[in-house]
Amino acid sequence: MGEIESVRGDITRQAVEAIVNAANTTLLGGGGVDGAIHRAAGPELLEECRRIGGCPTGEARMTKGYRLPAKYVIHTAGPVWHGGGRREEALLRDCYRNSMELAAKHGIKSIAFPSISTGAYRFPIERASRIAVETVREILGGTPEIEKVVFVCFSDGDYAIYRRLVGEMQC
Ligand code: APR
Repeated sequence: MGEIESVRGDITRQAVEAIVNAANTTLLGGGGVDGAIHRAAGPELLEECRRIGGCPTGEARMTKGYRLPAKYVIHTAGPVWHGGGRREEALLRDCYRNSMELAAKHGIKSIAFPSISTGAYRFPIERASRIAVETVREILGGTPEIEKVVFVCFSDGDYAIYRRLVGEMQC
């Protein structure tokens, strides 16, 4: 089974084949990691995103990486947290599952995720990180094509949480 690791850093600088963008359903860019990825990739990324024409919450769409070190960007629209009564947990699980399945379909061997929905979309980090690591671990078990998944944490607090969860599940 492929390895899972967590690092503290900037996802736009990760030397993996694909990085996942915590986008919105328009795919037309935004702040946070979405803004960072578009700034680093350059204007061609937005042009390709425009041609895709959007992405429903929980689904994933793939583009080239352009000026990023990563060859591809997998864009997924996470759920906005409204308290948990609107299938937020299921939709967040779908983001990780659909991104992994899209990567496997394209023969991508290494993929990096940000902590989807835990910034502007206000999904509680404790719940979101557990969903992220559990879903990736479950999919990885049945997807030998993917050899490495990296959770890229942008804060020390998030890194401490993901490191503990990834460590717990390695055994
Ligand atoms: N590398 C890795 N992680 C990052 C980076 C970066 N360069 N920049 C921000 N993050 C982290 C945030 O600290 C947070 O932990 O990504 C996580 C997700 O936060 P957001 O980027 O705010 O994404 P999200 O909560 O999913 O909200 C998505 O925000 O930017 C808009 O267009 C986007 O409307 C969409 C919404």
